[in-house]
Amino acid sequence: MKVIREIDGVREFRRALSGTLGLVPTMGALHEGHLSLVRAALDECDTVLVSIYVNPTQFNAPSDFSSYPRDLDRDLELLTSAGVSAVFLPTDSTMYPDGFAAAVKVSGLADRWEGIHRPGHFDGVCTVVAKLFNLVQPDRAYFGMKDYQQFLVVKQLVLDLNMPLQIIAGPTLRTTDGLAYSSRNVLLSATERARAPQLKAALDEAAREINGGSPVKEATAGAVERLVGNAFNLDYLAHVDGHTLEELAQPAQDARLIVAARLGKIRLIDNIAV
Ligand code: PAF
Repeated sequence: MKVIREIDGVREFRRALSGTLGLVPTMGALHEGHLSLVRAALDECDTVLVSIYVNPTQFNAPSDFSSYPRDLDRDLELLTSAGVSAVFLPTDSTMYPDGFAAAVKVSGLADRWEGIHRPGHFDGVCTVVAKLFNLVQPDRAYFGMKDYQQFLVVKQLVLDLNMPLQIIAGPTLRTTDGLAYSSRNVLLSATERARAPQLKAALDEAAREINGGSPVKEATAGAVERLVGNAFNLDYLAHVDGHTLEELAQPAQDARLIVAARLGKIRLIDNIAV
């Protein structure tokens, strides 16, 4: 596996390729969710490049950035055994050299939910993703559905800026107790880890109730109560349109339940189709 650290190296790598290139952008601390995206990319593309970069501009709390899990040696081993062709490991000064002044913003979609609770987060995501797309020039880029709003925002970015690539969604992968894989899961204490599956269980219960004819308001209130009773501190739990993320008071096709909540200091997000 080729390890590329510089912009020129990515450009050279791209120029030498024929066939399709798949990009899996990550912030490292790889887990099964990332690896399933890598496998999908390997199945569908001639060459796969994975980027690992803990992007400082998308963190709105400095402590979240500094505590974000990092395990580069293990990541490189996993990607080598998976059969990835190249990994791009830029530094901060490569991505944001002195004088860097640009920003990419998607309005509307990005202003809702995560956008409210993590101001500036999606500007950071869109800026770094746009840079990665410009540098790597992939034919396809792979994003996990656990970050559902991110997936929609990136699709909008690509559509609006006429970027010549396809955004592919990979399903949310879960541990056997239902917790969605996330790099931040390793930061949970043993007690928090034991409670964390309640997040998905609460969404499942609310979805069952909505599908069984209960009013949306009652079903979501029940899920909130269950989570609060399990020591979660909620940012939001909502029943939304799966395309616009607008809140829906009535059941609808393509509706989703989305949630963001903290267990102790660790913020978890999840979503399911209803
Ligand atoms: O989902 C992530 O890990 C990050 O937001 C991404 C897409 C790699 C951009 O930094």
